[in-house]
Amino acid sequence: MRATITATARYIPERVMTNFDLEKIVDTSDEWIRSRTGIETRHLVKDGEATSAMGTHVARELLEKTATSPEEVDAIIVATVTPDMMFPSTAALIQNAIGASKAWGFDLSGACSGFLYALDTGARLVESGKYQKVLVIGADTMSSILDFTDRNTCVLFGDGAGGVLLEPTEGDSGILDSILRIDGSGAPYLNMPAGGSLHPASHETVEKRMHYIRQDGKAVFKFAVKGMADISAEILERNGFQGSDLKLYIPHQANKRIIDAAAKRCGLHPDQVLININKYGNTTAGTIPIGMSEASDEGRLEPGDLVLLAAFGAGFTWGSLLLRWDHAK
Ligand code: ACO
Repeated sequence: MRATITATARYIPERVMTNFDLEKIVDTSDEWIRSRTGIETRHLVKDGEATSAMGTHVARELLEKTATSPEEVDAIIVATVTPDMMFPSTAALIQNAIGASKAWGFDLSGACSGFLYALDTGARLVESGKYQKVLVIGADTMSSILDFTDRNTCVLFGDGAGGVLLEPTEGDSGILDSILRIDGSGAPYLNMPAGGSLHPASHETVEKRMHYIRQDGKAVFKFAVKGMADISAEILERNGFQGSDLKLYIPHQANKRIIDAAAKRCGLHPDQVLININKYGNTTAGTIPIGMSEASDEGRLEPGDLVLLAAFGAGFTWGSLLLRWDHAK
């Protein structure tokens, strides 16, 4: 028995921030951002809207599309680095909002690879035979941890959420294989220093702007290009596939140049690669499920299509996952 995706959904907040809007806030330019990253706009939550609210929109749509009642949900896994609060988990808040009275769930912290970690974990729950309906959501409110005085980071990210419903199948579709990795020696290059148990919130941490993302972009770029390209090629190879066998490559959207390098390594044609970083920027755990949901709605995926997902993010974390598309709604 395999786990398969029976529905996809996404939530993109309405408010749009363009590169030109950013030009008014920090010393940057539309030309710099577009040429270095591929980003043109990103969407941001409104005041009072947070990660669980976006995840709840996604969860409700998944249930509606599949005519699933909330009581049927067995588990909720939320990949995020921007939970509404340290605890309780975003999964708990979403469970309550949708009324999933028989579910359990948890948040998973894998940064930009979070959704892949969560999807693989959810698939194992379903494959165990114990759970039949698992909601897997990737959601991040990156604007809540962005320093809008730091041009090195604030231009790169946006807010958004996406998710899937996983169910068992006896057929040929579903999650075929995954490779997931972590290497904490990458921690100094991309992190948010304060707000955890090492540096709890204090006047000093706030004054030193330690509650925001810090990134050595060049170092992360170097690791990301190699990490995502290698792990994408590795999973194809070990399953006996070539790039030409893929219908769609849905990579994490951190930088168009990272995606292009990974696609080239796998020998892919641009038509085989999903790119939406121009619209949303890097929504961290949101990018891959948002991409799957868009591809599905745009009719880019048919049952039986081979799809490759890949990501690289803070940790460092990285991974790839191969699946055969089902009749997902
Ligand atoms: N506008 C204008 N100039 C800028 C900006 C900006 N927004 N940001 C940085 N610069 C400047 C820098 O200060 C630097 O100037 P200097 O050379 O005078 O010091 C210069 O631009 C750097 O330029 P490049 O070398 O061309 O920048 P690079 O090609 O490295 O691109 C970028 C920078 C986009 C950040 C890239 O390194 C990158 O994408 N890194 C990876 C990001 C990533 O993948 N993160 C992982 C996922 S995130 C997660 O897990 C939460």
